[in-house]
Amino acid sequence: MPEPSFHTIIEPFRIKSVDPIRMTTREERQAKLEAAGYNLFRLHSDDVLVDLLTDSGTGAMSADQWAAVMRGDESYAGSPSYYRFEEAVRSLTGFRHIIPVHQGRAAEKILFGAVAGAGKVVPANHHFDTTRANVEATGAEALDLPCPEAADIAGRHPFKGNLDVERLDELLEGRSADVPLCLVTVTDNTGGGQPVSLENLRQVRSVCQRYGVPLFLDAARFAENAYLVKLREPGQRARSARDIAREVFSLADGATMSAKKDGIANIGGFLALNSDAWAERARQLLILTEGFTTYGGLAGRDLEAVARGLEEVLDEDYLRYRLRSVEYLGEGFRSAGIPIVEPPGGHAIFVDARAMLPHVPPSRLPGQSLACALYSEGGVRSVEVGTVMFGRTDPVTGDQVPAAMDLLRLALPRRVYTQSHVDYVIEVAGHVAERRDRLGGYRIVGEPSALRHFSATYQPVG
Ligand code: F0G
Repeated sequence: MPEPSFHTIIEPFRIKSVDPIRMTTREERQAKLEAAGYNLFRLHSDDVLVDLLTDSGTGAMSADQWAAVMRGDESYAGSPSYYRFEEAVRSLTGFRHIIPVHQGRAAEKILFGAVAGAGKVVPANHHFDTTRANVEATGAEALDLPCPEAADIAGRHPFKGNLDVERLDELLEGRSADVPLCLVTVTDNTGGGQPVSLENLRQVRSVCQRYGVPLFLDAARFAENAYLVKLREPGQRARSARDIAREVFSLADGATMSAKKDGIANIGGFLALNSDAWAERARQLLILTEGFTTYGGLAGRDLEAVARGLEEVLDEDYLRYRLRSVEYLGEGFRSAGIPIVEPPGGHAIFVDARAMLPHVPPSRLPGQSLACALYSEGGVRSVEVGTVMFGRTDPVTGDQVPAAMDLLRLALPRRVYTQSHVDYVIEVAGHVAERRDRLGGYRIVGEPSALRHFSATYQPVG
């Protein structure tokens, strides 16, 4: 008898410990939303039914990770937990220097603090918002060079996270002396969780080498990227995700990593690199703000959880389930007539809010309108990735200068929600989609000077 093949991909884990979800009514949620100034970051999370705000730090740790937590050694210097962490990161990435940090943006601050500065420019496929802010905080320019396909929201190019190699070449031809490094974000979160192909990385590597510019990865979602390469790139099917991930790291000279994503840890990260001189500078900065070089702002138990998480995330049963659950959410949205960034990427579904609410102009924040509707109708929390996050208020007219796109991101935490939670989200979104004509816009009534999406307040208009 041949091995039977079943098409249902099950969650490859059982649930041993549960967190209750407190049910709420629409009336309650509307009151909470109003009290939060219509900013979902200002809600209490126990007023949320299904929380798809982010996949960062929100994953469920495994029994093995919790066991490793108990082994955490809290010595200030030279803890065995650090050496286990170092070994896990080095065997995956191959980099010489492994510097722990409390989360991804700390690695960014230290790296760019050490090598960027006024007059410099840092090219990337897309900088994530904290990455951009940390590059710019040094006085340098953060330059996004996404491939042309990235702008085609409905296009099904398999690697819309690719960097535009021609534009990189042009930049380096004129200004290589001003470019401390080139960054490739895998997967490209800002561009819709889209993967970067091995072929593109090899080309970027070769251009960088020609001009003597180091190549760094923002590796927050390296495992999802590796599995999407396996699924989508010709000739990669037979390879393991680990093997592909190792090759990706081998093409780079260093990486920053938020272990809150593909480290499946609740906190943690690292800066890993080959240059002795840069590592020396980075360690000096680390000691100033994060902590000694063998803990970098983390507890020993956190280092243990990350070390174990980096192993588990490359388990192919896990990755198959992970990528399939994102795709399943995308299929549900598509059949409800909701336009999404195609094809579904690694960690989230991005709704094209501008296409879904054509009667709400970008200056009236269609992504925010949709985010508020999903919460008040069904208690689902998502995040606007559009004019609120990347646009700005014109200082003279007070009008909103729109971003290139108005998207709404629904990010799936790792190993947290089951298929019925996802079915519920699809049903809520379908319900909102049927009533889309009735949704109005929003205006900003209070905002800080930087990273405004976290704390701005809004009012409904129209
Ligand atoms: N790089 C990427 C690609 C990210 O998505 C994030 C965080 C960071 C760096 C910064 O890492 O949060 O550990 O400091 N992204 C989260 C998100 C916040 O919701 O996408 P961090």
